Amino acid sequence: MILITSASGHVGSAILRSLVQAQLPVRAFVHSEQGKEQLSRAGVHDIVVGDLLDPASLRAAFRDVNQVFHIGPPEHPRELAIGQAMVDLAQEHEVSQFVYFSVLQPFISSLRHHWNKLLTQEYLVDSGVPYTVLHPTMFMQSPQRAIQSGVMAAPYSPDQPMSVVDLDDVAEVAVKVLSEQNHLRAAYDLIGDEPLTLRQRAEIVSRVAGRSIEVQQIPLETVTAQLPRSTLIEAYGSDSLGRMFTYYSRHGLTGSSNVLGWVLGRRPTSYEAFVRKSLGH
Ligand SMILES: NC(=O)c1ccc[n+]([C@@H]2O[C@H](COP(=O)([O-])OP(=O)(O)OC[C@H]3O[C@@H](n4cnc5c(N)ncnc54)[C@H](OP(=O)(O)O)[C@@H]3O)[C@@H](O)[C@H]2O)c1
Repeated sequence: MILITSASGHVGSAILRSLVQAQLPVRAFVHSEQGKEQLSRAGVHDIVVGDLLDPASLRAAFRDVNQVFHIGPPEHPRELAIGQAMVDLAQEHEVSQFVYFSVLQPFISSLRHHWNKLLTQEYLVDSGVPYTVLHPTMFMQSPQRAIQSGVMAAPYSPDQPMSVVDLDDVAEVAVKVLSEQNHLRAAYDLIGDEPLTLRQRAEIVSRVAGRSIEVQQIPLETVTAQLPRSTLIEAYGSDSLGRMFTYYSRHGLTGSSNVLGWVLGRRPTSYEAFVRKSLGH
């Protein structure tokens, strides 16, 4: 049995879909009854509703589990504590593999969610629990909104190169690392293409869709001001996102697609191929 956390989120639901299609036995850990309903409608039967901060609900979810796919909630102030609790339970239950969904270049210390993921990774490696770590970069975004509005916008410099990856490729990797034998002690960068600036991505969308797309850098304050600030989690998230987009504007976020090509056994989906797929071309 594979336990997957944050299972009703953007990443979790895509990965869960692939695991179900591959007929792997999965248990989904979700935060709310709405998350449970969403996954039930998608054909998932074994679902535990609980809080990643609540040891009792986590412990209940570990019954008969021998593999874990842990996705931490994004921009969460307790991300490290959650990761450590998951590793502790995996050790106690003697799981055969803990797959940790980290991020590209977790060592960037000015980005709290990268750093929290790095420390979680360190805790996992030191625990002795057999592991596989995934380092996905930013996901390719659907081009539909840009095509409808004629504007492709982001809160970071349109001229800094960014590596992007198709979430479908990442979900394919999830199935491979959980079902094949040779992925223990591995850490894989998941990158789909050569680094592209926002301007270059807009040019590709424009060429494929056959309409001109304007590029806009949204002021950071516009994005963070729209986020709710009523709780510690939300204030932390807003600060964390602010740091992330400032970093992207200064340095971009780039890496190589060599490893993903090796894991998939084929060339990863390029940004242009992703846009064509999204538009049904
Ligand atoms: N987006 C990217 O380009 C990218 C790239 C690399 C890595 N990542 C990483 O991928 C991970 C997942 O991101 P995402 O975009 O899938 O996030 P998401 O869509 O916001 O999903 C997060 C999920 O976590 C659940 N959750 C939050 N707090 C919880 C708690 N205390 N207990 C149990 N569940 C809880 C949420 O449930 P509720 O909504 O019901 O609270 C939600 O289903 C993050 O760690 C992120 O850093 C993202």
